[in-house]
Amino acid sequence: MSKTIAGFSKLSKSKKIDWIVDTYFSDAEDAKEILKQYWNSNIKLQKLHDEFIENTITNYYLPLGVAPNFLINNKLYTIPMAIEESSVVAAASKAAKFWLERGGFKTKVIATTKIGQVHFIYQGDFEKLKQFFNQVKSKLINDTEAITRNMKKRGGGIIDIELRDKSSSINNYYQLHASFETLDAMGANFINSCLEQFAKTFKQEALQFALFSEEEKQIDIVMSILSNYVPDCLVRAEVSCPIEDLSEKDSISGEDFANKFIQAVNIAEIEPYRAVTHNKGVMNGIDAVVLATGNDFRAVEAGVHAYAARNGSYSSLTHAKIENGIFTFWTELPLALGTVGGLTGLHPLVKLALELLHKPSAKELMQIVAVAGLAQNFAALRSLTTTGIQQGHMKMHLMNILNQFEANDDEKLALTEHFKTNPVTHSAVTEALTKLRANSEK
Ligand code: MEV
Repeated sequence: MSKTIAGFSKLSKSKKIDWIVDTYFSDAEDAKEILKQYWNSNIKLQKLHDEFIENTITNYYLPLGVAPNFLINNKLYTIPMAIEESSVVAAASKAAKFWLERGGFKTKVIATTKIGQVHFIYQGDFEKLKQFFNQVKSKLINDTEAITRNMKKRGGGIIDIELRDKSSSINNYYQLHASFETLDAMGANFINSCLEQFAKTFKQEALQFALFSEEEKQIDIVMSILSNYVPDCLVRAEVSCPIEDLSEKDSISGEDFANKFIQAVNIAEIEPYRAVTHNKGVMNGIDAVVLATGNDFRAVEAGVHAYAARNGSYSSLTHAKIENGIFTFWTELPLALGTVGGLTGLHPLVKLALELLHKPSAKELMQIVAVAGLAQNFAALRSLTTTGIQQGHMKMHLMNILNQFEANDDEKLALTEHFKTNPVTHSAVTEALTKLRANSEK
């Protein structure tokens, strides 16, 4: 039976661990040892990680891999990817190589506007609220001066604030719907600080607005928060080549490949069950780079999936066509990313990942991330429509199975060789390893 505890966050790290291992684990010493194994021996570095969140007890590792040979707008990149799924980096690298030989990826940022809202309740006449809003709008902006000064100097800041009437959906519900340009910052803190100041000014000024009745003066702020739905913070990535260039030696013709590939995309465009898996493959690439560069993958996930459902039915994030003998495969995605602020200047591996990417601006990072998503989807569809996904997937998974059985280096070498020409399944690996071990005991 678990116990509750008061004041847990105030305990020292070692006391927290003692409480956890004593409360939840049959072998407390063993559990403690596992947690400590992942501590960094560099005390300063460990402290940095401890202080990212509350109640840190250890570090949780993910592999950081790299996918080289990405040609994006004629510039070469090696893309860092933090991900646990065995086949993702290999697939990205393969797609990068494929398109390197066919002109690479072309990208462009379509827009970079982000949104935040103050949600409030107003009991009264909408015409008067409109008059009040028009009168107070410039003060709303001026009162954020201390927050926006630096951002404005660099060319960003508040773009506009609109008053929105939502009272037909919820009684007396209205919004201040604000748009922002946050340049190289993801902008969550900037936007939220501006919104909270808008809310404060709005509520205070309402108390003095002569046209309002006493009831109308009592504006009730429900909440002030940015939106992770960013359909106007949009990037496009595409690849294209003559269809005959799609064929590789010993494989199907370029035309057959292109047609089958487009069918697969069309299915994801109209069939939500497929679209979700299709887009999951896109997100394999996107999340891995978003994580490696210290960005907020939950925000990106939420925004991207909402965008995928923007027309009322969940649909593919990628599209493909053949026009005048040219195959084109592309995506348009909303991505709110930052290359300054947050973890970007703090986490040593994030700094390293950004330097590996030629220290990109947020706009450049949007393009790189979109390419990683497109490449991943290309690799997945290419496998799915030709060999099937399991061949490549299980090859990459082989090492996980071997590690599960604690295979030594010689065994790994022998079985990697064996499975170059044999299909990998869990039972086939078990059998081959048992056989190998029995033979070596003879
Ligand atoms: C697996 O992580 C991703 C795929 O399922 C994506 C897809 O089906 O397109 C292979």
